[in-house]
Amino acid sequence: MDIKINKIPVEELKPKPAKDTQLGFGKIFTDYMFTMNYEEGKGWFDPAIRKYENIALSPSAIVLHYGQEVFEGMKGYLRADGKIGLFRPERNFRRFNNSAKRLCMPTVPIEDQKQALFELLKLERDWIPQSENATIYIRPNMIATDPELGVKPSGSYLYYIILSPSGAYFSRGFLPVTVFVPEKYIRAAIGGIGTAKTGGNYAASLLAGEEAKEKGCDQVLWLDAKERRYVEEVGSMNICFVINNRIVTSELDGAILEGVTRDSVIVLARHLGYEVEERHISIDEIIDGIKSGELAECFGCGTAAVISPVGKLMYKDEIYKVSDEPGPISIQLFKELTDIQWGRKEDTFGWTVIVD
Ligand SMILES: Cc1ncc(COP(=O)(O)O)c(C=O)c1O
Repeated sequence: MDIKINKIPVEELKPKPAKDTQLGFGKIFTDYMFTMNYEEGKGWFDPAIRKYENIALSPSAIVLHYGQEVFEGMKGYLRADGKIGLFRPERNFRRFNNSAKRLCMPTVPIEDQKQALFELLKLERDWIPQSENATIYIRPNMIATDPELGVKPSGSYLYYIILSPSGAYFSRGFLPVTVFVPEKYIRAAIGGIGTAKTGGNYAASLLAGEEAKEKGCDQVLWLDAKERRYVEEVGSMNICFVINNRIVTSELDGAILEGVTRDSVIVLARHLGYEVEERHISIDEIIDGIKSGELAECFGCGTAAVISPVGKLMYKDEIYKVSDEPGPISIQLFKELTDIQWGRKEDTFGWTVIVD
């Protein structure tokens, strides 16, 4: 792919955040973005790195009406050795294409996704935070741009990548969060679009998220759509429980997102000697486990927070307390994973990819 780089005059470059700035999550964007267009019959064309700025879209663009879009989320780490590291990015590239297929969109060759991201990161190297635990958040996106109101797949698309220097995803850091288990709302049903990383899933989650906040909770823990009985995942994370020293996580049943962190936790935990079960786990089993003390830990896992301990669960207006403190297995997995991601520990799994 021959990427055209449209350089911005130096005086137009944005000031970079000072080292001690509280970056928040996804609030600041770098100077450049990668863009590429698609037309049916022509394929992908005009790959370019250009100024991060507003994009022009017809008010009738399909994405604005029917939500035909997919995206990804990953992080770039500026390691102590000065190298830019990525964590299992090929999984994100593959998932992006799987999401695209589900939404009737064209795929982007993995090699092209990789090249685009590498070129952009190299150019924006100075934007990658140097402070502990802050990273450059990477957001590839694809939107349907045909200006038509008929409900059908678009014939044209825009693929782009933007970068956002970001701090902790949750303002509470590693402190255990409280999750709300809604009875009224569901996120996705088997056969729907739950396995795809697409905006509609997140739009569908907002109302329950607001209800969670009203009830003093931080996140939503979703139950399955059919029986409202089996736990699926948290807002932007997969979910794990430690029951009788075994790690249990919901199986990939066709409604939840196949998390990169989830897979890494499974592989790592098994490597560390834990038994891991991927299976249906009912809310009743969880509550019984909390009551009997057999359920010792609960944590969400996802790119943004890596591991996020869950301290309490609210179900049917009752609060069930797991723990006020992060549990030992949550701490261990967080440390092992982040040590690999930051290059502090040898990566025997081959998960790290060095950009430059
Ligand atoms: C709905 C949902 N589930 C799970 C995850 C965790 O996936 P990953 O570990 O790949 O970030 C995410 C985050 O991308 C998500 O949005």
